[in-house]
Formats: sequence, C-alpha cells, structure tokens
Amino acid sequence: MALDAARTRLIRLLPKVELHLHIEGTLEPEMMFSLAAKHGIALPYASVEAVRAAYAFHDLQSFLDLYYAGCDVLRDRSDFYALAMAYFARAHADGVVHAELFFDPQSHTARGIELGVVIGGLRDAMGDAERRYGITSGLILCFLRHLSEEDALATLAAALPFRSELVGVGLDSGERGNPPSKFTRVFAEARAAGLHLVAHAGEEGPAAYITEALDLLHAERIDHGVRCDEDPALVDRLVRENIALTVCPLSNLKLCVVKDLRDHNLARLLRRGVAITLHSDDPAYFGGYIGENYRAAAEALDLTAAELIQLAANAARASFLPLPGTVSKLSSLGTTDPQ
Ligand code: ADE
Ligand code: ZN
Repeated sequence: MALDAARTRLIRLLPKVELHLHIEGTLEPEMMFSLAAKHGIALPYASVEAVRAAYAFHDLQSFLDLYYAGCDVLRDRSDFYALAMAYFARAHADGVVHAELFFDPQSHTARGIELGVVIGGLRDAMGDAERRYGITSGLILCFLRHLSEEDALATLAAALPFRSELVGVGLDSGERGNPPSKFTRVFAEARAAGLHLVAHAGEEGPAAYITEALDLLHAERIDHGVRCDEDPALVDRLVRENIALTVCPLSNLKLCVVKDLRDHNLARLLRRGVAITLHSDDPAYFGGYIGENYRAAAEALDLTAAELIQLAANAARASFLPLPGTVSKLSSLGTTDPQ
C-alpha cells in the first residue's frame, strides 16, 4: 500500500542528517556523460539509459566494479566541485541540514589525481553549500579495504597535511575476506591524530566484523551493520553502548543484502532499542536519495510517525559536528524518546 499523506509530509519536513553517503556514489549518469565529453573519455555505454540499465547488481562486488569505473571521469578540482554541488542541491531539496560525506582517495590517487585536487574541490562545494543552502558538512576519508594496510597507512600519511579539512576516517569497499583487524594500525594512527572513526561492517561480512570494528578499530558508528542480529549478545551491546548503525535500505535491496524491503531488520532493531539511522549510500546507483530511503522503509515496514522522528533524531545525535546552527535547526526533534 502506498505511504499515506501524513507520513509522506512528515518525511519531507523532517530535518535530516546524512551520515552514510559516498560522494562518488552520487555521480548521476548525466554527469558521467558530460564529464566524459569534457575530458575526451570514451564510455562503454551508448546512452544515459544504457548506463542505468547496467545498474542491475547481484552483490556488493558487482556494484563496486561499476562504481570504481565511473570514478574515472572525475579528473580536476572543478569535477569534484560539480559532483558535490549537485549532491548538495538534491540534499537540500530532501531536507538535509547536515552531511558527513565519505570519499575514497585511493580510487583517485591511483589514477594520478592529487589528494589536494579531490579535497579542494569537495571543500569548495561544502563552503558554497553552507552559504547557499545552510547545510553544514564534514569529510570522512575512507580506506579501501581490498587494498593493503601499507597502502592505507601511506594514504593516511598523505592526508595528514589536510587534517583540518577532515572530520574522520572510515573503511569501505569489498568486505568479505577483508576484516577490520587488517586496519588496526592505521585506525590507531588516525585516532592519535584526533580523527573520528567509523567503519563499514556487517553489510556482507559477518557479525564478528562489527565486533572487530568496535574492539580493534574503536569505531564510533558502524556503517550498515545489518548482520548484527546473527549475534544476540552484540545487539545487546549496541543498545547498551548506544552505537549507531547507519542503515541504507535501498542499497541493501539493490545489492541483494535483503531480498525484499519488507524483510529488512531495521524496524525490529529500532524497536529493540538500537540507534538505527537511515541514509542513502550510493544514491545515483541505488535509485534514491535520503528522502526516498525514508519513504521506502516507512512503506515496507510500516514505520510510525514516532519511529520516523526517532530515526532522524538518532542521526542528529550520532553526528560528529554538533554545530550550534545544526543543533538549533534540529531542536524541534527534541531529545527525549518520542514514543
Ligand atoms: N563503497 C561505496 N559504497 C559501498 C558500500 N555499500 N559498501 C562498501 N563500500 C562501498
Ligand atoms: Zn557505504
């Protein structure tokens, strides 16, 4: 059944905090074509429609192969600026008031693009987004877990001159066979530099990876984390320690982490007391930005108005930048459990 008008309106009006968004995953096919034309790059697709038709994924890796290939059109500072500015325009339309953006420096530096070009273009857009839309934002540098620990350590060393431009570090890419334990040293170094810490875990990997991310990496939030309920003691711990899981329903559906959104465990976990938050992951590839993720989850799982407010409040509390402007914009959400 379609979502009723009251919850549709509530979702539209809720001030939203985006905590799980890969900026490279906001590259819409139209921009992929325009940047390819700008740089004289031949794409293996005849049209925008052909690109969209290729977005039929059967697991995380089948998506990552296209996602990394798409990054090739991002070459200069103005490309990263245009990418992020297009995202902020959509985020503003969706009621986003604060966003902590992931970016994958290794997928750019490996192609000869300097880190300063990537960070510079993104930071230019972040400044303009705050001036134009009032959206505050932060940058989280993600290490690609399919690459070596040495590569991650070198990436962190290269990023430290840009320390003041970053709010934290994260861990993404192919999860299976790449446990958090592989990155214990690099996360210890990031922690020593005062950076916040997050990690993708329990998306395709086992619940044990979530435990590792908490115990070995000292992750403050877990990205996805949906396989946590394979370990009931871990779920108890997430509740006790108020650890947020940044869940992305449309991503989980597109990457076949769940067969049907009606089977998603996010509502059960939320009702169990886990700090679930809703986000968009790679919206250009998965068919919806944050508002669409709220709508799809609300409809499939029959989330109540109070639960939708709880999801938005959880994200505000789990954010790393409690800026005065953000806090006042979010004050209507209150700090008590709306149940
Ligand atoms: N990089 C971009 N999207 C990702 C996801 N859903 N999981 C792991 N790495 C990613
Ligand atoms: Zn992700």
